Parts: sequence; structure tokens; C-alpha cells
Amino acid sequence: MGISGSDAADGERFSTSDARLVLAELMTGQTGVKITGTAIPDMSDDEIVEVKGLISEYCVAVLPNQPLTPEEHVAFARRLDPITFTPGEVPHPQWPDINEVHLPSTSTLPPSNGFHTDTSFVERTPSYTCLLPRKISSHGGDTVFANQYMAYEALSPVMQRMLKGVRFKHNAAQLKRLDEAPQEPVWHPAVRTHPITGRKAIYITQPSRCNEVEGMRPKESANLLEFLYAHCQHVYAMYRHRWQPNDVVIWDNRCTLHAGVFDHGDEERLMHRVMCQGEAPYET
Ligand code: SIN
Repeated sequence: MGISGSDAADGERFSTSDARLVLAELMTGQTGVKITGTAIPDMSDDEIVEVKGLISEYCVAVLPNQPLTPEEHVAFARRLDPITFTPGEVPHPQWPDINEVHLPSTSTLPPSNGFHTDTSFVERTPSYTCLLPRKISSHGGDTVFANQYMAYEALSPVMQRMLKGVRFKHNAAQLKRLDEAPQEPVWHPAVRTHPITGRKAIYITQPSRCNEVEGMRPKESANLLEFLYAHCQHVYAMYRHRWQPNDVVIWDNRCTLHAGVFDHGDEERLMHRVMCQGEAPYET
């Protein structure tokens, strides 16, 4: 079968066994796919379409042994979707499409930056984020991914119905240059439909960036968000990535939460992050 939204609407899912051009292997029941058998700079357009389909279905893809230059990293991300950048973050001085996630040491930091989707405080939110390590620690420093299709599907039909048409407020927070980020919040559906898979996923992020439900009283809003944010972090729907040099990891922000586990002590950890532009979230 193909991997367009209309196929997905027929109820059929694109799976690893449907991949014809790349080698795809699931890394847990439904979350995380390892893609091998093709060098990123040599990928054909059809292979890119297949890779996008796999990421969108399984939330995150790992492509091991891909020694990319910063230019090749950006060029690959651009083939997935147009490049975008988080307003309020600091571009790399040499490669302005690259955002560095750099932690020289975690001894003064909390153990994790919390589960989040990237840059939800804009109208048109990012589709993919492509991360690769430039310096990894000998221990710790993993990244964990949580599947938000599964989170949605695990809700009761009553709760799914209740969330229909509900919107959450998303605002900028926890940024290096907060004054350069949008000052006005945006409202996004609590549940969004994925444009490639046609599946529904909960769309929530960390409490500092998502703390109000449209039209609800403060206590209702706080309780609903607290429940959903915890529900979205269920271990049965996760993939935890232990970084190796030259791993390329791409996740789909429309159906995935992620968190860096910053537990690498005094060792340096440096990642290069490139983000792709998606669409305004919608629910069907
Ligand atoms: C991020 O939160 O965008 C980066 C995650 C990581 O560094 O593992």
C-alpha cells in the first residue's frame, strides 16, 4: 500500500513490511523504527517519501552510521519539509538552520527537561525534528520518545468525545531569547489529525507552555491538563534512545513527545538540531 493520507483514511496503516526501498525494523511494539540500507546523502525522492511515512507512523526513526556534515544534515532535513527555526532560540553562528543543544555538564541541572513537542507556540508548528550528536557522553544523556497516537487511542471513547473541539493554549517559555518569541499565545486542538497517517494524536506539551483549556474554569483546566500530560507519558508507549556516534534520529512532533534525559554528570553532550516546518494543527 501507499503512504498518503487517503490510504490512511481507509483504515490501512503503512507498516515496516510495506517499506520497499529502505530496510525498516521496529524497535518496540509501535514506537520507533530503525532504518538501514541506504546512505542519507544518496537517498532517492521515493526513499524520502518512504522514510517520512515510517517516521509518521512510528513517531521516531533512527538511522545509524550516517556520518553527516552539518551541510548534509540541513540538506537532509530540507528534503523532508522546508526548514524552520524556533523563534527565541539561538542559531549556530556558522550554520543558521542548526540549533545547538549543548550541555557541558548537568551537575547543576534537573535530571530532565521534561516531555514536550517542539515549538508548539506558533501557528504552523514543526513537523519533523532531526537530531544528531556531535559529542556524546559515555553514560546517560539518552532521549526518550512517547507515542501520542497510542496515548489518544488509550483514552476511553467518552474522553475522546469530550476532547473533540477542545483547544489548549500554547505560549512561549523556557527559551534563550524569550523576548524574540511570539508574545501572543496560540490555541491548538487538544487532538490533532496527522496529515500523512490520518491518525489522531493528543497534542499537549510541558506545563510551562500549555496551561489553559479554552472555555474551562481554572480548576477544570488544571485538572484536565494534569491528567492528560501524565497520561501521555505512559511507559508502554515509549522508545528510549541510547546515542551512538553518527546516529541520525528524526521524530514527528505531530504525534510524539520527547525528553532529553540530562543525567550525564560532568561529561559534555552536544547535539545539532534541525527542524522542519509543518502545518497548523487541525482535527477532523
Ligand atoms: C530537545 O529537547 O529538543 C532535544 C532532546 C535531546 O537533546 O535529547
